[in-house]
Amino acid sequence: MNNQSKTNKEAWSHRAKEFWIKDLGEPQTVAKDMTKRPKYYLRRHIDLLGEVNQKSIINILGSCGKKAIPLALLGANVTIVDISEDNKEYAMDVAREANVDINFIVSDFLELNTYNKYDLAYLEGGILHYFSDIEKVAKKIYSLLKREGKLVLNDFHPFRKVLKERNIFKGEKLELGGDYFSSELEQGEVAYERILNNKGDEEFPKCLLRYWTMGEIITAFASVGFVVEKLIEGPRFDEHKNIPGEFTLVATKKE
Ligand SMILES: C[S@@+](CC[C@H](N)C(=O)[O-])C[C@H]1O[C@@H](n2cnc3c(N)ncnc32)[C@H](O)[C@@H]1O
Repeated sequence: MNNQSKTNKEAWSHRAKEFWIKDLGEPQTVAKDMTKRPKYYLRRHIDLLGEVNQKSIINILGSCGKKAIPLALLGANVTIVDISEDNKEYAMDVAREANVDINFIVSDFLELNTYNKYDLAYLEGGILHYFSDIEKVAKKIYSLLKREGKLVLNDFHPFRKVLKERNIFKGEKLELGGDYFSSELEQGEVAYERILNNKGDEEFPKCLLRYWTMGEIITAFASVGFVVEKLIEGPRFDEHKNIPGEFTLVATKKE
C-alpha cells in the first residue's frame, strides 16, 4: 500500500462507525428505512444505473453501504471495496438487519486483482482525490468490468479547486483562492472531522488528497478505453446553486 492510501486508511479508521451512527442512525433503524424505500437512497443516480436486478455491481469506495445495501435490496449482487474496517462493521450490521447479503472487501482499491467480473462499477461522492494516479484508477475499473460493462462515477466538481474553503458550512462565505491547475498532494480533513470534532479540541488523523481538473479526469478514463456516454454537471448542494458542485460520468467498456 502506498503512503497516501496508508494515511487515508488511518483517517477513515478513526471514529467512522460512530459517525455513521450519528449521521444515518443505528443499523436497525437505517435498515428498516432502506427496506421500505431502497430507491430513495439511490434517487440521484437510479436512472443512470438502469435495471440493477440480478446485476453484478462493484461499489468502489462504498464506505458505510448506504448505496450498496439499497442496491442489494433491489436484487443486485453487490460488492463493496473500501479501505476502512470501521466502515465495514457498520455496513455489515445494516445489511444483516436488512436481511440482505453484500460482499465487503476491506482493501486498497488499487490492490484488487479481479478481472472482467462486474456489469456495473458505481462510485459516488468523494472519490478521485484519494488517488494520485487516476489513470491507474481508471485502468483498474476498466479491468474489473465485463465487456459492455458500465461505469457510473459521481464526484465533487473540480471547480471546488478554486474555492478558498472547499466545504462551506451554512452561513460561511464562498471565497475564491485555490489554484485550479495545482497538482500538489494536500493534507485535508476526513469528511466528518468537523462534525465529530466541532470544538476542534481533538487531534484527528488527516487525509492526503490530490484534486483533479475536469480535463485530467476525462482524459484518464478515455485513455484507458472507456467510451464516454455522458458527463452531467450539477450545482452545489448548499445555497450556492449558481456554481457547479458535482459531476457524473457515464461510460462503457466496449471491448
Ligand atoms: C467520501 S467516502 C466515499 C463516498 C461515500 N459515498 C460516502 O459518502 O461515504 C470515501 C471512502 O473512500 C475510502 N477510501 C479512501 N481511499 C481508499 C482506497 N485507496 N481504497 C479503498 N477505499 C478507500 C474511505 O474509507 C471512505 O469510505
